[in-house]
Amino acid sequence: MLRRVVFNEHTIAKRVGELGAEITDSYRDGDLLVLGLLKGSVIFFSDVVRTIERPLQIDFLIASSYGSGTESSGVVRLVYDPDTKLEDRHVLVVEDIVDSGRTLARLLGVLRQGRPRSLAVCALLHKRLPTALQEPVRFVGFDAPHEFLVGYGLDHAEDFRHLPYIGAI
Ligand code: IMP
Ligand code: MG
Repeated sequence: MLRRVVFNEHTIAKRVGELGAEITDSYRDGDLLVLGLLKGSVIFFSDVVRTIERPLQIDFLIASSYGSGTESSGVVRLVYDPDTKLEDRHVLVVEDIVDSGRTLARLLGVLRQGRPRSLAVCALLHKRLPTALQEPVRFVGFDAPHEFLVGYGLDHAEDFRHLPYIGAI
């Protein structure tokens, strides 16, 4: 079922370290909240936060498009803790992959209402398709091929998330 390995463990680890350094350099002062989107970002999230060398706090939310196919359905459901305070904090959203951008566009709209000091996105993968996003994704790990990818947190119908590499199916 797996057709080929697209990014291996070594390539991912090296790039994650570079992203951590970029993120560290970008936030010189203020409180930083790193917000992980469950479930897809969980493996990337736990690796990347450990490469950020400054104080930070973490939290999670769930954003899911309905359906279990290989195309996002366009309907995005958000579940989050309304008690998480965003006001005056730098908020960095960690996402596994940007495809149509609908998930992030919807999420960023909701987060902006919390009046964060800044709001930015770190995505491991970006398909570079035309997206609904108003602003570019600030931190991107890799440009992704236009294929369906699994592993390192990415799933197909909830399978393959545990693979240590990213492959195409
Ligand atoms: P978007 O809203 O179309 O940008 O979709 C983003 C979400 O769809 C991601 O957070 C993933 O959960 C999922 N997704 C998009 N492309 C892929 C893929 O190639 N493999 C696995 N999940 C994907
Ligand atoms: Mg997903």
